[in-house]
Amino acid sequence: MNPPTAFIAGWPVAHSRSPLIHRFWLAQHGIDGDYVRAPVAPEGLDAFLATIGAAGYVGGNVTVPHKQAALQSCDEVTATARRLGAVNTVWLDGGRLWGDNTDVHGFAANLDARLPRWRNGAAALVIGAGGASRSVVGALLEAGFADIVVLNRTAERAHAIAADFGSPVRGGALQRLADELGAADLVVNATAAGMGDAAALEIDWRAARPDAIATDIVYVPLRTAFLRGAAARGLAVVDGLGMLLHQAVPGFERWFGVRPVVSDELRRRVAADIGV
Ligand code: ATR
Repeated sequence: MNPPTAFIAGWPVAHSRSPLIHRFWLAQHGIDGDYVRAPVAPEGLDAFLATIGAAGYVGGNVTVPHKQAALQSCDEVTATARRLGAVNTVWLDGGRLWGDNTDVHGFAANLDARLPRWRNGAAALVIGAGGASRSVVGALLEAGFADIVVLNRTAERAHAIAADFGSPVRGGALQRLADELGAADLVVNATAAGMGDAAALEIDWRAARPDAIATDIVYVPLRTAFLRGAAARGLAVVDGLGMLLHQAVPGFERWFGVRPVVSDELRRRVAADIGV
């Protein structure tokens, strides 16, 4: 039998750090397996996922732009994936293709590891209304936040998230940031603003509570302008690299049978590869 192999299917997929993460754990646990990049165009996703068993895969990840479409290709999905309308992890069980969304776990587990007191919070402010924002909102609901406001440059997308998730999620325009910031125990940047060379969000952190926590889903750069601004106001900050690492844990466990640990060494390796 061939060594168990998992994939990451995306379009494009060359930039993905997931092979580095999973190969680190495979070597660490002495598992004879592999994790490979699978460039899959949108029109080929359904056929690809329908034949992963025949192709010798035990499962894999799907990433941009496939996370919504993959939900339709699965025979069964977890409650979390259904609620988000997006799948990022698939595996075979009894010949049926299962899908889960581990970004929700990744967001919460990163904060659990770095700043466990985040769970004491009641009010959260989430900036951005794309797929990443939905994962964050899912995690905040599971953590029991009583007030979750989603603000977005395009207000309609924030209102759509509020409508999809229902109470206690509210939506609004990014212009409301100054009004909402002062109530937040947790402030999340779930936008692509500040990623790479993209312009950062303009935030006047003076309105924020000094005991609030700020976290970013962006990890290039590791210390974003968003996090620097929050830290300058005295907020505790958690960068986004851990979310990438922690979202990989449940998939590895399903495919290879061992629950791996997000260690400092893994974090250093991935940070070095990203060049941060
Ligand atoms: P993802 O699935 O990674 O969340 P996305 O669906 O493209 O990606 O969403 C990107 C998010 O970043 C959106 O909330 C987007 O705002 P719009 O919905 O108005 O486009 C937000 N975003 C990107 N660049 C931004 C910027 N310069 N300022 C504010 N928001 C920005």
